[in-house]
Formats: sequence, C-alpha cells, structure tokens
Amino acid sequence: MRISVAIDGPAGAGKSTIAKLVSKEFNLMYINTGAMYRAVSLMAKENNIEPSDIEKLKDLIDTLEMHFENDDLILNGINVQDKITMPEISSIVSNYASIPEVREKLVNLQRKMSEKYDVLMDGRDIGTVVLKNAPFKFFLTATAEERAKRRFNELISRGIEVNFDTLLSDIIKRDFIDSNREVDPLKMAEDAIEIDSSNLSIKEVTEFICNYIKNKLQ
Ligand code: DC
Repeated sequence: MRISVAIDGPAGAGKSTIAKLVSKEFNLMYINTGAMYRAVSLMAKENNIEPSDIEKLKDLIDTLEMHFENDDLILNGINVQDKITMPEISSIVSNYASIPEVREKLVNLQRKMSEKYDVLMDGRDIGTVVLKNAPFKFFLTATAEERAKRRFNELISRGIEVNFDTLLSDIIKRDFIDSNREVDPLKMAEDAIEIDSSNLSIKEVTEFICNYIKNKLQ
C-alpha cells in the first residue's frame, strides 16, 4: 500500500521547509503543488495569457511536463524553482489557481504522481481534494505577520529586495483569494491535525509530525 502525507495551510506557514524534512525522514517524494500553480502562472505570463483566456490556458497546460528533482520543479526540462518563487509570480498566482479548469488539470497530474510514488504533498486542497484518503493530514498555520516575516527573511537572504508591508498585504490578499474561491478553497480537512507554528521552530514542528507518523505506523 502506498503511504501518503498531506500538508495544507496558507502561504508562508512553513509548509515547504517542513515538508522537505519530513519527506526525507520517510523517503517520500515531495510534491510541492504550489510550485505547479506557479509554473502555470509563469508560462502564462511569458506567453501573455490572461486568467480570463481559459481555452489558451488549457492548451498551454497540455504542453507542460512537470516533475520534481531534489525538491525543485523541472518544467519542460528546465529547473524553474528560483524563477517561480519570485515576488512577481507570487502576486499573480492566486488568479490562475482559482480557475476550475486549471485546477482540474493540475489535480489530475498530482493524483497520477501519487499513484506512482509514496508522496508527501503540500498545498491548499491536498487533504480535502487531491489525497482525500491520505492516512496522514496536517494543517499548518501561523499569523499573517509571522508568515510575512519568514518570507521577508527568506527573500532577503537570497539577495532579493522586498518591502515588508508589501509582502504582508500580498499574503493577506492571497489568503483571502485562496480561502474564498469557489473551487477547492483553502480549508482544513475534518480529519487533519492543526499545528499553529507561530511560536514553534521548524525543528519542533518537524519532530511533531515525524513522531506522529512513526507512532501511527507502529
Ligand atoms: O504554496 P504557494 O505559496 O507556493 O502556492 C502558490 C499559490 O498556489 C497560492 O496562492 C495558492 C495556490 N495553490 C492552490 O490553490 N492549491 C494548491 N494545492 C497549492 C497552491
């Protein structure tokens, strides 16, 4: 039987950092589903395809081959991980991720990956939609201020100049769009375990999740 772990939560809650550590511990393929929505947004931007142009977007997605190598997204053979995490993609991605046709195509791809590998997926709708039957579901939260602080420090450490207030308002705006869209909104699954990481270190959250999984597997 395949093992699958779902980690959902809002932007900047620490999902990807923790997901990478937990997936290594249990030898799972880490699928960063946010990266897949970002890749679609990047390609749409480069090809001047607006979110309203659904047919062009669907055709575009059919030309995209996505897989993960060392936790990075490889898009049509090119590592685009740095490009897709730039603020100019963060500020448009929710508009593309709220389109039902885009979601349907990406959810299908994600499910195919989970049939092929033991996976740890992070995102917004993994526990509620993509891997509804996952035996392990976590919902990671933190205050908007704490999440903006973490994104700020991460971007600054990469040498990318950003303004804290802009980041905070972008996070609040994205939370709103992600939680209020009609299709598959950001929502905690009823059987997920909620972890508020505002006052916890990465190590503490990772240990909690790993111990929980180990105890259940025994
Ligand atoms: O986790 P992230 O910030 O990289 O996600 C980028 C965007 O993609 C975010 O605004 C919400 C969207 N997303 C989604 O709608 N469903 C997912 N499973 C993952 C991300």
